[in-house]
Amino acid sequence: MTAQGHLTNEEIDAILDYADNVKPVAKTAVASSDVVGEDGQGEGGALLWIILLIVVFSVVIFAARGVRKQLAYVVAEKEGEEIELNKSIKEKLGEWIVRNWKFTTIAFVLLAVTGGADLMKRGFQVGVYADYKPSQPINYSHKLHAGEMGIDCKYCHNSAEKSKHAGIPTVNVCMNCHENVVESDYRLGSTENIAKIHAAAGYDSETRKYTGNTSPIVWNKAHNLPDHVFFSHSQHVNTKTGNIDCKQCHGNVPTYGLGRVSTTEEINQLAGTDGIIPLTKPLLTMGWCLECHNEKAVDLTKSDYYKELHGRLKSRPDFLRKISEDDKITVRELGGWECAKCHY
Ligand code: HEC
Ligand code: HEC
Ligand code: HEC
Ligand code: HEC
Ligand code: HEC
Repeated sequence: MTAQGHLTNEEIDAILDYADNVKPVAKTAVASSDVVGEDGQGEGGALLWIILLIVVFSVVIFAARGVRKQLAYVVAEKEGEEIELNKSIKEKLGEWIVRNWKFTTIAFVLLAVTGGADLMKRGFQVGVYADYKPSQPINYSHKLHAGEMGIDCKYCHNSAEKSKHAGIPTVNVCMNCHENVVESDYRLGSTENIAKIHAAAGYDSETRKYTGNTSPIVWNKAHNLPDHVFFSHSQHVNTKTGNIDCKQCHGNVPTYGLGRVSTTEEINQLAGTDGIIPLTKPLLTMGWCLECHNEKAVDLTKSDYYKELHGRLKSRPDFLRKISEDDKITVRELGGWECAKCHY
């Protein structure tokens, strides 16, 4: 290595040490192809279809050439010309296809139909994350912590009411309990998973002391809106604004192991409880946001701003009727369908 004037020996050692021990960074972002890949038809699937299409096209070309050859033979025979008998494999294949034209036509149509259906299915799946659950470095369980032990969501996702993000808890939050909870036989591998928390926090469970050797836990994101969308938890969950239960958008989390994107069907089964309304669009799509903004009534008595607005509206029933067709005021009627509200 050439001398690096601006680096001390310790720094160079640190770099070499890092290079020797570096672990591949866990994937934190979710590409839509990964979501499609869940059913085992990711990019490998696309390649398969390209190959199949090439095969289909070759078959068609051979068939067409075969037909031409056949016609040429007919013409040649008629005119009493000699037929060339040394046929290449290509020609034999072409003839076979023409002779079995029923079979080849059916095969072609089947391929085209299934291929088309698959492509359409993929088209609809772009950006749809329903039922997506990424793997995680620690096999954490919501069912145990939020379900059986009944820990409040906001104990761990404590910024949901105050800010844009609900947040993922730091290892310190886990250590509030796991300094003492060192073992568990709740599930297979429970104790090893708790040991991973200790490793991340730099905690020696034998001596019960912190070593200082911390390494952050890199949780993979399940929910992931594109960068051009603005979504804020506080506007939706704070009791003074949306006052919407987590279940409306995340499903029955206390029954989950790891965090995941719920499905419309699961959430609709909870409709009627805790103010949850049924919706039809897949979660995290623009249609989903718009549908709820069109359905959900805003409780105008919750905040001072709306209370004042409501007071003024009540004194102008003609105006109230103009902005709302029924007796409820929806998010849409307050501007929740304006592009700029959700797009940067
Ligand atoms: C003891 C802490 C703790 C509690 C309590 C808890 N969670 Fe979590 N939650 C986590 C951790 C850690 C993750 C990241 C790992 C994972 O995805 O499971 C997470 C992930 C999530 C995710 C997925 C986030 C993403 O990646 O998109 C959602 C949604 C979620 N939690 C909702 C809830 C709800 C709703 C409750 C209450 C019913 C709750 N959580 C209670 C610790 C907690
Ligand atoms: C109106 C729907 C809605 C409600 C209600 C809601 N969330 Fe979310 N949540 C979302 C969306 C959308 C995302 C994805 C945000 C993104 O990618 O920017 C998300 C993401 C998350 C995440 C991943 C980390 C983050 O902040 O992006 C956690 C954890 C989470 N929500 C927990 C909760 C908890 C806990 C509650 C209840 C207190 C709750 N959510 C209520 C829609 C909702
Ligand atoms: C309020 C206390 C508390 C907090 C906070 C807490 N845990 Fe736990 N956790 C427990 C208890 C108690 C057990 C043992 C339950 C048993 O064995 O029945 C446990 C067990 C576990 C287990 C083993 C059981 C299983 O799921 O297989 C894991 C892994 C775990 N916790 C991960 C976490 C992580 C990660 C965090 C931080 C995001 C966390 N815990 C935060 C109390 C807590
Ligand atoms: C389950 C219903 C529901 C879903 C789903 C939902 N919202 Fe909302 N949203 C509301 C409610 C209710 C309010 C009104 C809060 C208030 O009182 O100010 C709101 C308000 C907003 C606002 C503030 C509007 C304003 O006039 O200031 C934005 C921005 C917003 N939502 C974005 C989104 C985005 C982006 C999504 C989809 C990722 C989404 N919402 C999904 C119910 C929902
Ligand atoms: C209530 C929130 C909300 C409003 C209002 C809204 N959008 Fe969107 N929009 C979204 C979300 C969320 C996505 C991301 C959808 C996804 O990832 O599948 C999106 C995606 C898009 C995209 C990218 C294409 C796509 O489907 O991913 C375009 C373009 C777009 N919106 C245009 C508009 C226009 C134009 C308006 C006004 C007429 C508008 N949006 C109003 C939430 C909203």
